[in-house]
Amino acid sequence: MKIIRVADYETLSSKTADLIAAQVLVKPNCILGLATGSTPIGTYEKLIEWHEKKGLDFSEVTSINLDEYVGLDSNDKNSYRFFMNYHLFEHINIVRSNTYVPNGMTKDWEKECETYDHRILQLGGIDLQLLGIGNNGHIGFNEPGETFVKNTHLVELGESTIQANSRFFETLEEVPKQAITMGIGAIMQAKKVLLIANGKEKEEIVEKAFHGPITPQVPASILQLHPDVTVICSF
Ligand code: F6R
Repeated sequence: MKIIRVADYETLSSKTADLIAAQVLVKPNCILGLATGSTPIGTYEKLIEWHEKKGLDFSEVTSINLDEYVGLDSNDKNSYRFFMNYHLFEHINIVRSNTYVPNGMTKDWEKECETYDHRILQLGGIDLQLLGIGNNGHIGFNEPGETFVKNTHLVELGESTIQANSRFFETLEEVPKQAITMGIGAIMQAKKVLLIANGKEKEEIVEKAFHGPITPQVPASILQLHPDVTVICSF
């Protein structure tokens, strides 16, 4: 595992974008696992610059996102599909039908989850998985619990996640209480993992996740067992 501390968010964003760009350059038809949340926004801005100024070509790339809220459709500004379109896909030449986000509006959760895992398998797995980390140690929406859940699944969001995510909603009540998330299995099978953490409030959980015991109470701690993890943090 490599832990890189950088001076500020700007540097975190450009370094992360450079590593993703390198992946696209060496394997133009790569499978990128992508994340939402505040932390990757700067990275996506830098990737858009890569595309606009240096001609980075996303036309053969496939992306697969970590998670989606239950009950929000793609036109809802708080849905993760909307986020990805707005912050990245609309600005680069990725083929929209090659971008996958779980369908939060499905009535058949089990089928949606199975299909999502099947798709990852069919794609041959993820080449590079970008992750943020929740204040409670979640990756994707794999919340602290008794076990690591391997497959894509429906999850009840924990109190601290609902609180943290309420900053994007008008009221706390509007924050969805459930989500669909990729499981720990697909994340651990990604060839490379890139985890980014920004701000003082993430320092303690990063320390716990990468220097503490491996436990499902801190889901990100499983990454200590992954053979190719880079953590980039600015705090
Ligand atoms: C989002 C996701 C979450 C976030 C995490 C950190 O797709 O999977 O695990 O990465 O909640 O969010 P921010 O970056 O907003 O601190």
